Amino acid sequence: MASRRILIDTDPGIDDALAILLALASPEVQVEGLTVVHGNCSSWQGAQNALAVLELAHAAEIPVAVGCDRPLVQPSLLAPETHGESGLGYARLLAPATPLHPMHAVDFLIERLLAAPGEITLVCIGPLTNLALAMRREPRIIPAIAELIIMGGAIRHQGNTTPLAEFNVYVDPHAAHIVYHSGVPLTLVPLDVTYQCILTPGDVARLLKIASPIPRFIADATRFYMEFHDAYQKIEGCVINDPLALALLFAPELCVYEEHFVDVDIQGGVSMGKTFADFYRMTGNPPNMKVALGVRGRDFIELFIERMEQLSRKIAD
Ligand code: BDR
Ligand code: CA
Repeated sequence: MASRRILIDTDPGIDDALAILLALASPEVQVEGLTVVHGNCSSWQGAQNALAVLELAHAAEIPVAVGCDRPLVQPSLLAPETHGESGLGYARLLAPATPLHPMHAVDFLIERLLAAPGEITLVCIGPLTNLALAMRREPRIIPAIAELIIMGGAIRHQGNTTPLAEFNVYVDPHAAHIVYHSGVPLTLVPLDVTYQCILTPGDVARLLKIASPIPRFIADATRFYMEFHDAYQKIEGCVINDPLALALLFAPELCVYEEHFVDVDIQGGVSMGKTFADFYRMTGNPPNMKVALGVRGRDFIELFIERMEQLSRKIAD
């Protein structure tokens, strides 16, 4: 089967970096570019991280375009306590030698999507500012997107940034509102499923048996992330949100989905950025997305580790 052409819009970010590595390790997908948005760190820092991770995995030919550094309406909110000042925890990668793509990420998305209508799947694993702006600037991209997978939101699960709201949506709720109401066929991968996907210290120890810079990077990055999860959420290990969204491109059977009308609160107040589903069809609105609400979390972690082992053997010392 031909591999699926994808673009990843990302805010790297520890689990974003893991999602990028998973994409590179997966023959089912062909990464045609990374577009970077603010979120876990500034968009400039995120773009440096994206380039450095691609170089680490010998994939520097993939273009990286930097995009928006601020949400559409809200003030900026970064996450150094979760991902470290650099965005990659304790990992110290070489400064990238590859230059950024000269286009702004919004223009890059528009150009690539319009050049291949119906052929490119978009995986969004950060705040949705770049995509929302691209949709406003060039609405013809909306029917051109083959499929959209978004890591974001918390439907029945508690929030991870406020008691109610998930980070990617809380950071730019207006952007999420634009994308959710755009009419693009989309799959949402919320905290309801990602919080069942926990990478443990034992998993990392298993990877470290292979002599390769990939496991060492994963260990250094996730050690910081695990300290965060222990200190703030009393979780042993770390939740790897973004790689799950990526994996659903080629292993959709890992999750159970329901179709619902899902919206996001942009009124302000205590539930600002909260995503909610109309489970009982009370609004009369037709479903606007497929939501992953169940997952075989450990099976996903096994898949992730196996793919990282394969990649590590290719990029051995
Ligand atoms: C999301 O927020 C970020 O911290 C992660 O990279 C992930 O995309 C989880 O809420
Ligand atoms: Ca992310």
